[in-house]
Amino acid sequence: MFNAGNVVVSESLMSTYAPLPVAFESGKGAYLFDTEGNKYLDAVAGVAVCSLGHANPEVADAIAEQARTLIHTSNLYKITHQIELGDKLCALSGMDKVFFGNSGAEANEAAIKLARLYGKQQGIERPNIIVASGSFHGRTLATLSATGSRKVQAGFSPLVEGFVRVNYNDIDAINKVAENNADIVAILVEPVQGEGGVVVPDDDYLNQIREICNKNNWLMMLDEIQTGMGRTGKWFAFQHNNIKPDVMTLAKALGNGVPIGACLASGKAAEVFSPGTHGSTFGGNPLATRAALSVLDVITQKNLCANAENMGQYLLQQLKQELSNVEGVVDIRGKGLMLGIELNKDCGDLVKQALDQKLLINVTAGKTIRLLPPLIITKEQADEIVKTVSILVQNFVK
Ligand SMILES: Cc1ncc(COP(=O)(O)O)c(C=O)c1O
Repeated sequence: MFNAGNVVVSESLMSTYAPLPVAFESGKGAYLFDTEGNKYLDAVAGVAVCSLGHANPEVADAIAEQARTLIHTSNLYKITHQIELGDKLCALSGMDKVFFGNSGAEANEAAIKLARLYGKQQGIERPNIIVASGSFHGRTLATLSATGSRKVQAGFSPLVEGFVRVNYNDIDAINKVAENNADIVAILVEPVQGEGGVVVPDDDYLNQIREICNKNNWLMMLDEIQTGMGRTGKWFAFQHNNIKPDVMTLAKALGNGVPIGACLASGKAAEVFSPGTHGSTFGGNPLATRAALSVLDVITQKNLCANAENMGQYLLQQLKQELSNVEGVVDIRGKGLMLGIELNKDCGDLVKQALDQKLLINVTAGKTIRLLPPLIITKEQADEIVKTVSILVQNFVK
């Protein structure tokens, strides 16, 4: 490690990331402070992770107390906080059972394995799962194979087989696969595509998928790793549609930064795994599950789903007011506090320009500015985001 100006550079880390020239030392609510003491408004929240803001006192206390009491035992024994968290997540979602892992990719691995076992139990020897173009499900081999991005897959062939790809938000394409492929056992989609560019499907997309899954005896599997935990204005995005999936995966905001992932299942899907079919050393340990329990408490007490809904609508409306008539702005869209501003050209440079203005934003799918502020965001902070982003975009597209 060495210092180049005020930026710490590492020669010992594998170069899987290209970090911005800033390191943060502390955080409070929607703000981060760098090693020079500069204050930044965070409209990314660790990519939809720190939804309660940084250094949330309730979560910090829960983690500290648990760390002093018991961090880890093993899934060889009962884990009280894991049981309590499972019960609460099931009550909130209407799902029946939960498996805990440590990340989003692991949660999706569990879902993929569950779908394959379900297929085998139906007598399907080579079970296939329908996945969507533009999707993102993780970086492990199975999840990158399910992911709809050549960039993510490049160099890693042979990919895991058993995925059939259809265009996102295209029900006809799913029906066509249903007619031609008797080996389909499940569909895995995101309710709103995050990494794919904040793509919001038609209002009844999930309802139609639910119907097709019912008709064909397929599992409807929703990757709510980015959309879950209040981000879209409901605890889980599927709750906008009054349906229930057979499988749902969570991670990101579930621990507000403490690594934890979950694969939830309902009905017949909840009975697929049996002892020995899946597992994880750390999954659902006392520390992570205690942290997640405190996250659930804070979201409930502070009514953060409603704040996400209200602030999301406000941000969308303000951004549209400032930017929809600007040439070069293709679309402004979102659901709750998952917002995208699509430009007509690559705009990755805007991330550094925003950083210079002490605002953290993200760009995904090349041309889409993605805003994922913490669910605690206030109107004043939303106004600040709109003001800075609008000026940056107007100058950028000139
Ligand atoms: C929808 C979705 N699924 C899966 C993942 C993978 O999660 P993780 O990075 O925790 O493995 C992500 C991460 O961005 C995601 O947005």
